[in-house]
Amino acid sequence: MSKTKPAPLPPDTVIGGYRVIRRVSAGGFGVVYLAVDGEGQQVAIKEYLPSSLATRAPGDLLPKVQPEKLSLYRLGLKSFFEEGRALAQISHASVVSVLNFFRENETVYMVMNYLEGATLQDFIITARDLKAEKVFRESTIRSLFDEVLRGMRIVHQHKMLHLDIKPANIFITDDNKAVMIDFGAAREVLSKEGNFIRPMYTPGFAAPEMYRRDSSMGPWTDIYAIGACMYACMQGFPPHEAPQRHDKDRLSIALTKLRGVYSDNLIEVVEWCMAMDPLSRPQSVFALQKELSREGERRYTKLTVAEKMRLQLDTLVSDTKKNVQKVGDAAGLALKPK
Ligand SMILES: Nc1ncnc2c1ncn2[C@@H]1O[C@H](COP(=O)(O)OP(=O)(O)O)[C@@H](O)[C@H]1O
Ligand SMILES: [Mg+2]
Repeated sequence: MSKTKPAPLPPDTVIGGYRVIRRVSAGGFGVVYLAVDGEGQQVAIKEYLPSSLATRAPGDLLPKVQPEKLSLYRLGLKSFFEEGRALAQISHASVVSVLNFFRENETVYMVMNYLEGATLQDFIITARDLKAEKVFRESTIRSLFDEVLRGMRIVHQHKMLHLDIKPANIFITDDNKAVMIDFGAAREVLSKEGNFIRPMYTPGFAAPEMYRRDSSMGPWTDIYAIGACMYACMQGFPPHEAPQRHDKDRLSIALTKLRGVYSDNLIEVVEWCMAMDPLSRPQSVFALQKELSREGERRYTKLTVAEKMRLQLDTLVSDTKKNVQKVGDAAGLALKPK
């Protein structure tokens, strides 16, 4: 199969009574369009069109699927449909609303309310580039995740896990609401077939048990990702990947550097959410919410002189290693710091 992405539906195509305005985004799993309904109301439509299983020529409506990939394609289609149905039962301001879903063109479409704004990822990149001491203020982080967690609690109550929480899947609307998008039950099923539609986990945000894909996944798996998102909001970049943390865990050191900038309580919450052992994390969204709302006890412990020296030493050692690497690279050597 060719590596080119399937062509999106052209503007003005009518599907299920909605008229396509333009493509908003194309991921490995499908295409998102801005469209309008019969009354001219804007909607977002997500089309199931996994680029590793299907192709579509420009101007065509039907995807082409190779016979040997058809069963997998159908399996993904079924779970995409089920994901839509499950999501449609959830009505919460912090969970994207599914208005409709329907089959057409031998695929499935999920109609959502159209959100205007940008993803948290976009905000982090913009804030980071400003190079301020803090990427986001503590109060911003707390209220943002308070909203996300309210939605997540409802999702978990519906026996669903998101499993791909990351800044790119948290949408911040122009009227300042945080909304979770991109629910991935379909990805789950497809991965069980052993055929990877796209990486099943996002490095840095995926809990260690996601890499094992065993029965230890639960609410705490999404909670790990929440911790990682908070970390990204504080640092401006994602934490190290879980497998890397297995070998050498630098999370505590990275968080120690944030002491005095963010409260001890917030730093402890992130560390708690991101515990490698699922049992050492908050076991429910409620437990996490409770801790996050402990406003009264906010302390900002500055680093002691000894701690500062230790951190400086640590930075010095890792910078030296990086420089050794650079010199090695420049000399064309495959020199890797240990
Ligand atoms: N309801 C929506 N309203 C507006 N834009 C959306 C909506 N849903 C998704 N998008 C846009 O499409 C992008 C991809 O959607 P997403 O559901 O995350 O799919 P994937 O990451 O699997 O491609 C999002 O980052 C966002 O920019
Ligand atoms: Mg996404």
